[in-house]
Amino acid sequence: MERTLSIIKPDGVAKGLIGEVLKRFEANGLKVAALKMIHLTKKQAQGFYAVHQEKPFFDSLTDFMSSGPCVVLILEGEGAIDKNRKLMGATDFRKADPGTIRADYASSIEQNIVHGSDAPETARFEIAYFFNALEIVN
Ligand code: CMP
Repeated sequence: MERTLSIIKPDGVAKGLIGEVLKRFEANGLKVAALKMIHLTKKQAQGFYAVHQEKPFFDSLTDFMSSGPCVVLILEGEGAIDKNRKLMGATDFRKADPGTIRADYASSIEQNIVHGSDAPETARFEIAYFFNALEIVN
């Protein structure tokens, strides 16, 4: 069993896609082990995306991520990290496979509906960023 951190970003929440995205996860063998809705501050968004702090899109990304509420969740299942990434599609929605969440709903490379951890170490950091042990169902 593997765990990964998923975020339904402010554009996904604003477009009314919480149910649609959760349905895709659950229909594809990913179980929700924790879930909450939060409105990140700019500082909290900067902390989460600290690995991107030197990137040209960092300021715009953290503005966007703190622009409205998002849903953060832990997905659990066999190969959860890869499975989630396949369901999301490529970061750039123009390169995402048809039928993926980003191909279907993203409007730009930044406003791409969902985030998902890209590796086990990243997943550990990202899960701990949002959830404590008491908030995760076993
Ligand atoms: P995410 O998977 O959350 O990881 C970093 C985020 O930065 C990415 O999705 C996009 O929302 C955003 N972003 C904006 N511009 C770029 C870019 N040129 N390349 C990669 N990510 C970008």
